[in-house]
Amino acid sequence: MKPDIMKKYLIFTLMCLLVSTIVSAKDVALSSPDGNLTVTVGVDAGRACYQVSRSGQVVINRSALGFVLKDGDFKDNFKMGKVTRRSFDETWSQPWGEDAEIRNHFNEMTVRLQEKGGAKRYLDVVFRAYDDGVAFRYEFPRQRGLHDFVIMDEATQFALPTDPQVWSIPALTAYYEGIYTREPLSQKGKMSGPLALEVNDSLYMAIMEANLTDYSTMNFAPSGTTLTVDLVPWKNGDKVRVGDTRVSPWRAIIIGRKAADILLSRLALNLNEPCQIKDTSWIKPTKYVGIWWALQKQNWTWSQGDRHGATTENTKRYIDFAARHGLGGVLVEGWNYGWDGDWTRYGDKFEFTRAYPDYDLKGLCNYARERGVRIIAHNETGGAAQNYENQLEDAYRLYESLGINTVKTGYVNSHFYNGELQHSQWGIQHFRKVIETAARYHLMIVNHEGAMPSGIQRTWPNLIATESMRGQEYNAFDRRGGNPPYHECILPFTRGLGGPMDFTPGIFEYRNDAVPGTRPQNTLAHQLAEYIVIYSPGHMAADLIENYEHQPAFKFIEEVPTNWERTLVPHAAMGKYITYARQERGTDDWYVGSVTDGEARDLQLSLDFLGEGRYQAIIYEDGPDADYRTNPYPMTIRRLDVDRSSVLNLHLAPGGGVAIQLLAE
Ligand code: NOJ
Ligand code: CA
Repeated sequence: MKPDIMKKYLIFTLMCLLVSTIVSAKDVALSSPDGNLTVTVGVDAGRACYQVSRSGQVVINRSALGFVLKDGDFKDNFKMGKVTRRSFDETWSQPWGEDAEIRNHFNEMTVRLQEKGGAKRYLDVVFRAYDDGVAFRYEFPRQRGLHDFVIMDEATQFALPTDPQVWSIPALTAYYEGIYTREPLSQKGKMSGPLALEVNDSLYMAIMEANLTDYSTMNFAPSGTTLTVDLVPWKNGDKVRVGDTRVSPWRAIIIGRKAADILLSRLALNLNEPCQIKDTSWIKPTKYVGIWWALQKQNWTWSQGDRHGATTENTKRYIDFAARHGLGGVLVEGWNYGWDGDWTRYGDKFEFTRAYPDYDLKGLCNYARERGVRIIAHNETGGAAQNYENQLEDAYRLYESLGINTVKTGYVNSHFYNGELQHSQWGIQHFRKVIETAARYHLMIVNHEGAMPSGIQRTWPNLIATESMRGQEYNAFDRRGGNPPYHECILPFTRGLGGPMDFTPGIFEYRNDAVPGTRPQNTLAHQLAEYIVIYSPGHMAADLIENYEHQPAFKFIEEVPTNWERTLVPHAAMGKYITYARQERGTDDWYVGSVTDGEARDLQLSLDFLGEGRYQAIIYEDGPDADYRTNPYPMTIRRLDVDRSSVLNLHLAPGGGVAIQLLAE
């Protein structure tokens, strides 16, 4: 840069900083319990705004708050009303999760915004400052002029003071099944959250919503380096019809010094309501196999005919396999009427209580139960969500009576049948109705093509996993060869922040006859590491069962736990590599999973997190010559005596990984 341009640039930057850090005398401020994060709230010429800083450095510039309602603006004629404060500190426990106990420690400030003229309506904005981030939401107290009303736009902004690198998928990507890409914020189009931001070497952030309830989904429209909330509309253009639910979801900003801090934040869970299910003892997620990968690979069909997959005979083989290997569930897809013909076009033909003639629904449920296995019922709706709602009570009553304890739902269609978008307020209401109904019938839900998770599994822990991402299935049918090798290195930073991912790991056979060349773009050791790196309380062993026979690596899948006491992140760089270390719930054993993108990595892992005493390490690592491009299979399994003073040298091949059991002796 020429010196004079440099000078102008510096002056401009300084001016921006000055303008953005001006704090009016009338501003009110809220700090995190450790004092590092501060939210400042004020009203500038009638417009309410907030600003966030960390240790005095602005991380979100003054950014607008407010709404456009059907009957006019509700954003630029405010004065600040009363301000109330409270502090909260509680440790709560969850039936399943990445950590058994979670501390919910925050300072809170509620700011009333009062219209200066006209109808003199008001709304409250509740701010919370945590040590790992800040959040706010709107509350709409009942008052004259604000009973039932329609939000046409939310004016909330996130103004970034610099131009960070952002990982995101484009807004309205079908079912969120897109590839996350990294670009400067100023070059992004409309995006869906959660967004992962690399600001500088000591500042990483994520922006997302938490507790998405009876509202429409928050997307982001960038302009320069400012993001404006872009809500998914109803088909008539309304964004949110506010009735009995008088609060918006939380707008949350996770702030960390290291990339790993983002993965360890439990902000999304803390911003959700406590568990609504009194007795959670029946919620027991489990690993599962299924009549599934053979459908993705086009060996079998969902519909009736010669290659129908969900037959009594095939299902018995899967149940026997699950029982033999200690896996608790068998997913069966294509068991019920509705699949014949174009099922995405005629989704209202799906029947959720009537099985195909070659599938013995009752007999198989009994056969499974006698062997300690449960059938996971699949309910594909083809987007005919109303047809599903009409059958919900009958179907779930039947499943409970048969001993089915989990339902996998699916919504393959660009719209719901009534023309509403899947992520609109209608869609969010539908997905919640399914979860709440399932809870009444003691059913766990795995939701494919669902809402973007926002931590509601704290309130409804029967929602054990959601897809809402590009899962492993693309490694069967994608025409471009499969998911990129960095895919699992960015999912936990983005989609994973909202809740468990039904990614379906564990592909051992890379050959693909139906779509030659399409396969996992990573190694076998990487496939094992996914059981740790991608979080779900009930992972699938996704491959055909015959591909697991006589495979030493399958032992890791048999033994990897489904519930954790504590989670650590020893290494993490967004989109490049991640190592998780997780302690099994209720034992002293630890499990480590590490994955890399297309680059080979050498990582040192200190085992200082282990308990006292000696441990046996069983290490499943990339063998010599393993490379996702040329030979994904080589794997070495070695055993080692270690303790908490040990340091392991991990070598990950290009697209590789490592999975480690650390068993207390
Ligand atoms: C898409 C889902 O993600 C997949 O798991 C399922 O097999 C198909 N839809 C059919 O329902
Ligand atoms: Ca899907």
